Amino acid sequence: YSKSEENMLNAHEFAAEFYHHLLMNTEDGEEALNYLLKRGFTKEDIETNGIGWSLTSWDTLSILLKREGYDLEEIAESGLIIKRENDSSFFDRFRGRIMFPIRDELGKIIAFSGRILHQTENEAKYLNSPESPIFHKSEVLFNLDKARSSIRKTGQAILMEGFMDVLATNQTGVFNAVATMGTSLTPQHITKLKRLVEKIIICYDGDNAGLEGAKRAAEKLQAENLKVEVAVLPDKLDPDEYIRKYGPESYKTILDKPQSFMAFSMMHARRNKNFQFENDILQYVQEVLEQLVGVSPIERELYIKQLASETNISVDAIYTQFRKLEAERAKTVKRNIQKGGQTVHIDVKQ
Ligand code: UTP
Ligand code: MN
Ligand code: MN
Ligand code: MN
Ligand code: MN
Repeated sequence: YSKSEENMLNAHEFAAEFYHHLLMNTEDGEEALNYLLKRGFTKEDIETNGIGWSLTSWDTLSILLKREGYDLEEIAESGLIIKRENDSSFFDRFRGRIMFPIRDELGKIIAFSGRILHQTENEAKYLNSPESPIFHKSEVLFNLDKARSSIRKTGQAILMEGFMDVLATNQTGVFNAVATMGTSLTPQHITKLKRLVEKIIICYDGDNAGLEGAKRAAEKLQAENLKVEVAVLPDKLDPDEYIRKYGPESYKTILDKPQSFMAFSMMHARRNKNFQFENDILQYVQEVLEQLVGVSPIERELYIKQLASETNISVDAIYTQFRKLEAERAKTVKRNIQKGGQTVHIDVKQ
């Protein structure tokens, strides 16, 4: 970190302590504290994660930072405070929100996410720090600093959509969960995970968006040769909601029995298809077969048998179709190599 970035980090540390104090010890933070307790956080959880509350006033933090000797111009670069255009004074970005510190892998606070207490239509539920010299959203995995040792020990990382889900998961005694910060899974995230583990369990929200996101994330991880399994939650619930509704034991059972990548892929491909219609069957078989290129022969046989029994098509016919697909793929690869092009993303229908 540069000198200027260190100042920003220090300001974040200072702000986090201030926010945390407001939450724990003041009347102003009382409603937020009760909200958190109602959501299942203990005071110890709040302490451990340094959760806080930002005042509704416009510039309390800015004034305090100034008094502490910070160069507000510099701190504004981190997005913690914002410079007014007309009179060059500064105001606080986060006001009247529950403050969750976002830490880098070493545990340094590099950003905040602030949750609104009462949701309204025209305000985002979570307000995040902007991209800044110390915060690169596409690189950060929430809780990676705390989860690292558990990830190493268990040999697997659980990947989630929401940082609230990670915090709820921690409350059940499971400590190897991380979350992206509202972005989809990036190559930088994958690199970080790959350095630590070989196996990722995806546990996204059980709604449609979560399912589609899980599918995309699973394919990216699979393509990077990580072992991927998917824990699917019912009733459109997210992990936090599931824990509240069915309890930690039931939740851990789901985490302990995730679906294999192929089983999840097949389930995903079956969705919204009606096997009364020929076209749906053919499309389903095609989608699954595409996933089977590159899978070991034994696994392939297993899934082809399953396909056959699901669709009433003979194993022989499905195998014939599969070999055709495989040959097409091989041709495409060869063509790309001859062209000297990249073969990373292969278009089957080319
Ligand atoms: P969700 O909408 O699923 O949030 O967004 P959640 O974790 O269930 O939150 P609660 O339980 O209502 O408090 C998942 C993630 O998407 C990002 C956040 O990183 C969040 O953790 N997000 C969501 C935003 O950045 N801004 C938003 O307004 C909403
Ligand atoms: Mn940087
Ligand atoms: Mn969601
Ligand atoms: Mn959610
Ligand atoms: Mn939630």
